[in-house]
Amino acid sequence: MSQAVSYSVQDKIGVISVNNPPVNALAQRVREGILKSIQAAQRDDSEAVILACEGRTFIAGADITEFNKPPKEPGLPEVLSALENSSKPVIAAIHGTALGGGFEVALACHYRCAVASAKVGLPEVKLGLLPGAGGTQRLPRIAGVKAALDIITSGNPVPAGKAHDMGLVNEIIEGDLLEGARRYARDLVDSGAPLKRIRDVVIDPDTIEPGFFEQARKRVNARARGQIAPDRIVSCLEAAVSLPIDQALERERELFRELVTSPESAAMRHIFFAERQAAKIKGLPRETSQRDISQAAIIGGGTMGGGIAMCFANAGIPVILLEVSDEALDRGMKIIRKNYGITVKRGKLGEEDVKQRMGLITGTTDYADIAHADIVIEAVFENLELKKEIFAKLDQTCKPGAILATNTSYQDVDAIAAATGRPEDVLGTHFFSPANVMRLLEVVRGEKTADDALATAMRIGKRIGKVCALSGVCYGFIGNRMLTGYGREAQLLLLEGCTPQQVDSTLEQFGMAMGPVAMGDLAGLDVGYKARQSRGTTGDDPRPYAISTRLVESGRHGQKTGAGYYRYDSETRRRIPDPEVEAMIREEAEKFGIARREISAQEIIARCLYPLVNEGAKILEEGIAQRASDVDVVYVFGYAFPVAKGGPMFYADRVGLKRVYEQILEFQRQHGETNWRPANLLKELAESGGSFAEWDRRQA
Ligand code: 3HC
Ligand code: NAI
Repeated sequence: MSQAVSYSVQDKIGVISVNNPPVNALAQRVREGILKSIQAAQRDDSEAVILACEGRTFIAGADITEFNKPPKEPGLPEVLSALENSSKPVIAAIHGTALGGGFEVALACHYRCAVASAKVGLPEVKLGLLPGAGGTQRLPRIAGVKAALDIITSGNPVPAGKAHDMGLVNEIIEGDLLEGARRYARDLVDSGAPLKRIRDVVIDPDTIEPGFFEQARKRVNARARGQIAPDRIVSCLEAAVSLPIDQALERERELFRELVTSPESAAMRHIFFAERQAAKIKGLPRETSQRDISQAAIIGGGTMGGGIAMCFANAGIPVILLEVSDEALDRGMKIIRKNYGITVKRGKLGEEDVKQRMGLITGTTDYADIAHADIVIEAVFENLELKKEIFAKLDQTCKPGAILATNTSYQDVDAIAAATGRPEDVLGTHFFSPANVMRLLEVVRGEKTADDALATAMRIGKRIGKVCALSGVCYGFIGNRMLTGYGREAQLLLLEGCTPQQVDSTLEQFGMAMGPVAMGDLAGLDVGYKARQSRGTTGDDPRPYAISTRLVESGRHGQKTGAGYYRYDSETRRRIPDPEVEAMIREEAEKFGIARREISAQEIIARCLYPLVNEGAKILEEGIAQRASDVDVVYVFGYAFPVAKGGPMFYADRVGLKRVYEQILEFQRQHGETNWRPANLLKELAESGGSFAEWDRRQA
C-alpha cells in the first residue's frame, strides 16, 4: 500500500484514509493507493467502506503539477470506476474542500457525508479545464442540468448545507467526522441501503427547455475573454443529456485532453502557482514572527478608505474610520452602507450579515480613538505633505508595534516613513478600486520596513481576501508604473490613424476586460486633466494628452457626463462611436503633423502591450518586483489582464522574447528612443534565447 493512502477495517467498516499534504491532491501514489484499497475491500469482511482524508481537507483535486508530465497509471477514471462498482457501499466523508477531481471521487462514491463547514465544487474552469473524471456527467444527474452548469462554469464552491439541500451531500455530520461517518455507514448497512450509482440516473431530455444549450453557450462565450473551457463545458452537459453515459464520459475525456494541452490552460495554471508564489517573500523564512492584528484603523473614508474598511469588516476584523469632520464621516459611512445595500440587492449578502459587518465599522474624528489599532491604513488625498503630516501624528498617537501603512498610488513610501520615528513599522498597502472588489494588494516594502511588519501585511492581505504581491519603492510601484506606456501608446495610436473603437475592440478581443480608451471614459477624463493642471505640463510630450484635454475642455469628462471618447446611451451605458470625436482626433493629428494611416490589430496589440513587458523587465532588473510571475499576478488581479493569456510576462514568453525585443527595436527606429528603450534584461534574455520563466527559476 502506498504511504499516501492507508486502509484498515474496524467493526466491519473499512476506512480508506488519504494522507498527502498539503491538500491531498490526487498524485499517482494517491490514485494507486485508493485503487488498491478498494480492491482489498472487495475481498475482506468489511460491509461498507469510508473514504476520508487526514490533514486540513478532503482531496482538493488532481495534482496540477502532473498535467505537464506524461500520464501515469492508474488514471483517475479507472479509480472512480472501481469505487463506483464496489460491491459494498462506499461513503465519502468530507471536510475542508472537496474540489475538482476530489469532488469527482466523492461523486463516484455511493453516498456522501460532510461536516457543516465543508465545501464541494468543480473549480477546473479556473484552470482553463473542465472536470475530466466524470464531473460533467455525474453532477447534472443529481443536481439537475441547470444547477450543474452554474456550478461547473462558475467554478465556485458550494457550502455543505446548500450542497445537502441540492442532494449533492446526503448527510451532514455533527461533531467528529470519522465517528459520524462510521455511524452513518452502519445505518446504511443495517437498513439495507442500495448501492446508489449516480451513473445509473438517466436525464430526461424533455426536461431541458428548447434552446437551453444555445443560450448557455452564448452566455458563457460572451464573457469568456479568450477562455475556451466554458464552451467545452456546455458541450459536455449537452452530451450528458443526449448520449449514453459511457459515450458521454468519452466525450468529456476527449474535451478534457484538448483543454489540458491548450495555451489557455497553461496560462491559467501559471497564474494559479504565480498567485501562491507571490505571497512568499524571498529571503524571509516562513516562520518569520508576525504581529497580532485584531483592530484596524483607516484614515480617510473616501473612495478607497471606505472600500478598505469593508474588506476588514468582511473578514470579521473591527475597524475604526477616521475622518476630518463629522460631515465627511457621515458621507463615508453612507457610501459604505449603500455599497453593502447593492450587494444585498444582488442576493450576495443577507441583511443580517450587513448589520453585523456595519457593526464592526465605527467612525471617529479623534486620533486618540485609534491609539490601540494594530494596523492603520492611511487613504487621504494623494498629497505627500498631507501624508507626512498624518504619519507624524500617527507616530505620536499609535501604540508601539502598530503597522503604519499608506495606500498611496505614487508617493515615496520612504519619505512618508521618514516623517515618523519608527520607519521599520511603515509600509505601503496599495489597494485597487473598488477596494472591496478588486483582488490585488501591492504590499510596498520601504527601505527600512521590518521583516515581521512585511510578513504581517502579506498575511493580513490574504486574511481579507486579497492576492498580495510585493513591490519595492518607485513611482507607481509595479502596476501603475507599467500602465504609463500602455495608456500612452493607445493615445498615440489614435493620432496615427485608429478610431477609439478600433483600439478598444482589438484589446478586448485580446481579452482585456475593457479597452484603454473606454477605461479613460469610465475613470473620468477630468481626473488626469486636473492632475496635469496642478503639475504643469512643461517638458512633457503633449501628444498623449492632446485628445483627452480637448475632450475635457469641451465638457466631455467621460461616462459621468454622458460623453467622452464615446457618447453613452443614458439607459444602458452602451458606448456609441462619435464622428465628432473622430474629427477632433484628425484635427489634433494634423496639428502635430502626424500622417494618419491604416493600423493593423497586430500593431495595436504590440504597441500597447510591449511597453508593459519592457517596463516589467526594467522593474525586475531594478529588483522592484521579486519575480516575473509576480508582475503577471499584478496585471491579472489588479488590471484585468486576461488570465487566459497568463499576464504580460507569460504572454511575452509565449510570443518569444526575441520577437518582442526585435519589435521594440523596430518601434524605436520608427518612434524614437524616449518611449522605446529596451530593458537590458529583455535584451539579454532575447539574445540568449531565454525567457522570463527561466529567469524566475534562476533567481529562485
Ligand atoms: N495540485 C497540486 N498542488 C496544489 C493543488 C493541486 N490541486 N492545490 C493546492 N496545491 C498546493 C499549492 O500550490 C500550495 O503549494 P505551496 O505551499 O508550495 O505554495 C499548497 O498546495 C497550498 O495551497 P493554498 O496555498 O492554495 O492553500 P489554501 O489552504 O489557501 O487553499 C485550496 C486550499 C482551496 C484547496 C486551494 O489550494 C485550491 O483551490 N486548490 C486548487 C483546487 C483545484 O483547482 N482543483 C481542481 C484541480 S484540476 C482537477 O481536479 C482535474 C480533474 O477534473 C481531473
Ligand atoms: P478620496 O478623495 O475619495 O478620499 C480621500 C478622503 O480623505 C476624503 O474623504 C477626505 O475627507 C479624507 N481626508 C482628507 N484629509 C484628511 C485628514 N487629514 N484626515 C482624515 N481624512 C482626511 O480619495 P481616494 O480616491 O479614496 O484616494 C485616497 C488615496 O488612495 C490616495 O492616496 C490615492 O492615490 C490612493 N488610491 C486611489 C485609488 C483610486 O482609484 N481612487 C486607487 C489606489 C490608491
